[in-house]
Amino acid sequence: MIGTAKHGVEVSITGLGCKVPDRVIANDELSRYVDTSDEWIIERTGIRERRIASPEEALSDLALPAARDALKQAGLEGKDIDLIIVATVTPDMSFPSTAALIADALGATDAAAYDLSAGCTGFMYALVQGYGMLAGGLSKRVLVVGGDVLSKILDWTDRSTLVLFGDGAGAVVLEAVPKEGFLGFELGADGAGAVHLWLPGSGSRQFEEPDKYVKMNGREVFKFATRVLVQSAEDLLAKCEVSIDDVDLYVPHQANVRIIDHATRKLGVPSERVVINVDRYGNTSSGSIPLALADAVADGRLRHGTLVLMTGMGAGLTWGSALMRWTITEAVSR
Ligand code: ACO
Repeated sequence: MIGTAKHGVEVSITGLGCKVPDRVIANDELSRYVDTSDEWIIERTGIRERRIASPEEALSDLALPAARDALKQAGLEGKDIDLIIVATVTPDMSFPSTAALIADALGATDAAAYDLSAGCTGFMYALVQGYGMLAGGLSKRVLVVGGDVLSKILDWTDRSTLVLFGDGAGAVVLEAVPKEGFLGFELGADGAGAVHLWLPGSGSRQFEEPDKYVKMNGREVFKFATRVLVQSAEDLLAKCEVSIDDVDLYVPHQANVRIIDHATRKLGVPSERVVINVDRYGNTSSGSIPLALADAVADGRLRHGTLVLMTGMGAGLTWGSALMRWTITEAVSR
C-alpha cells in the first residue's frame, strides 16, 4: 500500500510522549544468563544497554505515562480523544485490548479503542490508520501508542534473541492542522517470511510451554531488514516526489546499528541526519520509532519544519514508512 496524504486534509502529530522502565541492563549483565560478551553484542548490533520492565510492570504501565505526556503536549485530556490504537505484540493480556484499558485510565469515554498487531512495524501501521480515520472525517483526535515489553516473551537462555531487545513505549496525538504534517505513507507485508521471526506457541494454532518464546532466524531477518528499509523509503520518496537530499531527519526502526548503517549508506543519508538510540534501548519493537523521535527532539534535530522520514520493519514480515513535516513548536516532555 502506498499513497500521498489527501490534499486539503492536513494531519500531523501534535503531542509526543515516551516511557521506558527504570531498570537498565548493560551487556555485561546479560552474560550472567547466556554465553555472550559486551564485545560481541556491540560489534554485531551496536547495543550497549537496554531497559527491562520489572516483573509486575506490563505494557499499560509504560503506555499510560507516555500517553499522558502526549496528551499534555497536545493540550488535550482523555475525554477529547475519539480513537485509541495501541500497536503491540505484548499487550497486558490477549483481551481486553490494552487500548481499552488505557482508554479507561485516561477517562477517554468517547473513544473507540483497539490493539493492532504488526510486529515492530506496529507504530507505523497505527500511524497510517490514525491518519486515515482523521482524513476520512471519522475521528477528530487520535491517540496512537507504540510499545512493547518483549523481555516478557524472550527466552532468557537464548543468546540469539536475548541480547537484541528492550522494553519501551511511545505515544503520539494525531490531529488536523492548518498546514503540513504527513506527506505520504508506504506499508507492506510478506507472510512468506513469517517463520523467520515469530512466537509460535501463542495462539489458537498452538499454545505450548516450549514454544512460548520469540524465535528468530537472525540472518534471514537481517537480509530482509536491509532490503526493505531501503526499498520502502525509496518507494515513498518517489511517490511523494521528494529527494532524499531534502529529508532533514531519517528515523529508522532501531533494531541494529549495522542494519541502520547499511540503509543509511544505500539511501545516501548523511550520518548527522540519522537518529540512532539502539545503543541505549536495544530494539523496543513498536516503541522504537517514537522513542527515537523523542530523542531527536531532545537533541534539537527535530523541530518545527523538519522533514522527517520514518521506516519500520518487523515480524510478519512487515514494513512501513511515513514522510512528514514536523509541526510541533514546543519541547517534548520526557
Ligand atoms: N553472543 C555471542 N555469540 C553469539 C550470540 C551472542 N549473543 N548470538 C550468536 N552468537 C554466535 C553464533 O552462535 C555464531 O557462532 P558460530 O560461528 O560458532 O556458529 C556466531 O555468533 C555468528 O552468528 P551469526 O548469527 O552468523 O551472527 P550475525 O553476524 O548474523 O549476527 C544478529 C547475529 C546480530 C542476530 C544478526 O543476524 C541480526 O542483527 N539480525 C537481525 C535481527 C533483528 O534485528 N531482529 C529484529 C528485527 S525485526 C524487529 O524489530 C522485530
